Amino acid sequence: MFSSDKGCISHDGIRGKEWGTPVMLSTGVRVYVLKPLLIDYLMHAFKRVTQVIYPKDLGYMALLAGVRPGYKVLEAGIGTGFLTAVLATIVGDEGHIYGYEVREDFARVAKENLRRLGILHRVTIKIADVRYGVSEEGIDAAFLDIPNPWEVVDVIGKSLKPSSPILVFLPTANQVIKLLSKLKELGSFIDIRVFETLLREYQPDEKAFRPLSTMIAHTGYIVFSRYVKNT
Ligand SMILES: C[S@@+](CC[C@H](N)C(=O)[O-])C[C@H]1O[C@@H](n2cnc3c(N)ncnc32)[C@H](O)[C@@H]1O
Repeated sequence: MFSSDKGCISHDGIRGKEWGTPVMLSTGVRVYVLKPLLIDYLMHAFKRVTQVIYPKDLGYMALLAGVRPGYKVLEAGIGTGFLTAVLATIVGDEGHIYGYEVREDFARVAKENLRRLGILHRVTIKIADVRYGVSEEGIDAAFLDIPNPWEVVDVIGKSLKPSSPILVFLPTANQVIKLLSKLKELGSFIDIRVFETLLREYQPDEKAFRPLSTMIAHTGYIVFSRYVKNT
């Protein structure tokens, strides 16, 4: 049985229906059977075991990194797999995501989340602490969502093709400052930029068109830079 604040419906009342078909809830409210989008899987079907990167940040990070079909992407840590799902969707069957996750229990959940989306074959998850190094080379873009990225940017940089971007997501400004010091000290990261995204949804009501009264405020900072040869 699927239950909601508008009424319930048995799964048998939905199963086998064509996408877009109307069905009736127990209360008589008419609803529709919709094909889930990636964002629906992330927000409603993924089991969450960690803090996640929210859609407002995921989209911009993927765009900044220029991820596209065929790309080889490195990611640490995998956590719940929100970012992994976005990246694996974009790189397609010709590309691949090499992910590091130190917690085996989290990796197991992330794998199950990705399997439900049908994209697990595009992802290799290694149960390892990225601080001990990575074995990949010729990576097109790297993403870090771990608490201490300044300890690993040097080693991650060396896995990247020169000129490739590295994107780091950090919840606090203190972490951003530590990372900036490290990037500048290393000298092999250029075009360093820091972003924060704010997304405001509107009430789609022509008689009372205005922003919704609730909003996700702070999530984190996005630190962008590009790796270059520093010889
Ligand atoms: C905030 S979660 C990542 C969430 C993920 N980006 C998402 O959108 O679902 C951070 C993850 O990094 C992992 N982690 C922390 N330090 C790590 C390290 N040094 N190497 C590998 N994984 C690490 C943690 O176990 C945790 O699962």
